[in-house]
Amino acid sequence: MATTLAILGGGAIGQLLAMDLCQHRHSPLLLTRPETTARIIQHQLQRLDGSIQQASLPHAPSNQPQHCDAVLVTTKAYQAESALTPVLAWLPPSTPIVLLHNGMGPQQRLAQRFPEHNWWAGMLTDGALKLESHSVRHTGQGVRYLGPLSGQGQLPDALTEIGFISEAAILPRLWQKLAVNALINPLTACYGCTNGELARPGHRAELQRLSDELAAVAKAEGIAMEAEQILAWCLSVAEATCSNRSSMLQDVSAKRPTEIDAISGFVVERARAHGLCADAHRHNLDRVSQLSGCTKT
Ligand code: PAF
Repeated sequence: MATTLAILGGGAIGQLLAMDLCQHRHSPLLLTRPETTARIIQHQLQRLDGSIQQASLPHAPSNQPQHCDAVLVTTKAYQAESALTPVLAWLPPSTPIVLLHNGMGPQQRLAQRFPEHNWWAGMLTDGALKLESHSVRHTGQGVRYLGPLSGQGQLPDALTEIGFISEAAILPRLWQKLAVNALINPLTACYGCTNGELARPGHRAELQRLSDELAAVAKAEGIAMEAEQILAWCLSVAEATCSNRSSMLQDVSAKRPTEIDAISGFVVERARAHGLCADAHRHNLDRVSQLSGCTKT
C-alpha cells in the first residue's frame, strides 16, 4: 500500500529521500515554510549510475494540517526545532517523527520538550549535492539506520524499502554519524577540500587526535567507540563520498550558518561536562565559527 511520508527540509538529502520513496511507489509530501503556497513541483535526481529520475512532487505549507504516516526531518540541525513548531500544532501525537539531521542536541531537546509526541531518530551517510532548487545529484552511497528515541509502535515499511535498517538502540549509531561529521565536516570546511582529500596521509595526525578525543567523550557518555574504529569509519565515508564537498564546506562557501554547534560544539560541551580534554574539537569549533561568521544551535 502506498504510504505518505512528509519530509520537512527540502535540501539535497530531503529531495534524495523523496525521490527514493517515489521510485518505490510511495507518496512523499514536501513540507515548506508556513508563508508558502501548496503546489506541485517537478524534481530531478541524477542517480549514482548517471540515470536521471524525474517526478512531480507535492509541496504544502508546514502549518496546514495534512494526512501523513510519518514525518522525516531533514533540515539543518539548527533549524529542526523552529521548523517543527508549526507541524507539531496539527500532527497527531502518535504519528512518528524521524529526526535525520546531522549532529546531536536537538533530538534530546525535542523529545524532552514535547514528550507527548512519537520521536525517532536516524542517520544516513549518503552524499548528495543540490544542483538547482529542485535538482539533486546522489554523489555517494551510504548506510541508513533509524530507531526509537522515545518512539513507540512501528514505522512505515516504506522506510525499510528505501534502505533504512532498524536499530533498537539508535544512540550508538547517532554517535557514529556524529564522529564522521566531527572529523570530516570541519576539516573540509577549513581546508576547502573534498571529502576524499581528507583520506590522504597528510591529514592522518589531525584525524587521529580528533578520534582519540571523541572516543574518550563517547566512553564517558556510555557509548563504546574505539578511536581506531572512528578513524576507520571516517576514512571509509571520505572514500565513498570522495568527490563530495561536505555540507559544512558548502555552507561556509555560501556564507550560510553551519551545523558546527551541533557537531564540534556538542562534543566540546559533553567533554566539559565530564572534565575531559577536547582541544582539537574546540579548535575546529573556533575556526569554523570564524569562517561562517555566525553559527546557531
Ligand atoms: O554532512 C555531510 O556532508 C555528510 O553527512 C557526509 C556523510 C559527511 C558526506 O559528505
